[in-house]
Amino acid sequence: MNTGEISSQQLIAVARSARRQAYAPYSSYHVGAAVLTLGGDIIAGCNVENASYGGTICAERVALTAAVAQGKRQFSAIAVVTEDGASPCGLCRQVMYELGPQMDVFIADGDGNVRTTTVKALLPEAFAGP
Ligand code: THU
Repeated sequence: MNTGEISSQQLIAVARSARRQAYAPYSSYHVGAAVLTLGGDIIAGCNVENASYGGTICAERVALTAAVAQGKRQFSAIAVVTEDGASPCGLCRQVMYELGPQMDVFIADGDGNVRTTTVKALLPEAFAGP
């Protein structure tokens, strides 16, 4: 699939590279993510764990919040890479819905297999605010 000038494979490659930065001493489960802006910029993230487990931040939310901190507000896609090709957690789905409800989601595993879905498919009937 082509997401404008940036291909999904390029976005996945950035997420795969970001996964190498994962700080995961408690789970040893390394996750990389990369978000694509409408302007064609890519911002990466990895999971960052904490001894107080609740302080852990998932790769998807690191990427999205870093992008917001860089002044980005419009997103077309996000890629997530894990060893087993796991689907994003519920909390990340809600944050994806908040910041990029129109995003495509590319979920890749360690072997290079990719599944393509959307934020709206991952979080049907989303809570959109009071
Ligand atoms: N994790 C993510 O980074 N993204 C997800 O969507 C699911 C889980 C991280 C959190 C924690 O550091 C590790 O994976 C194990 O749950």
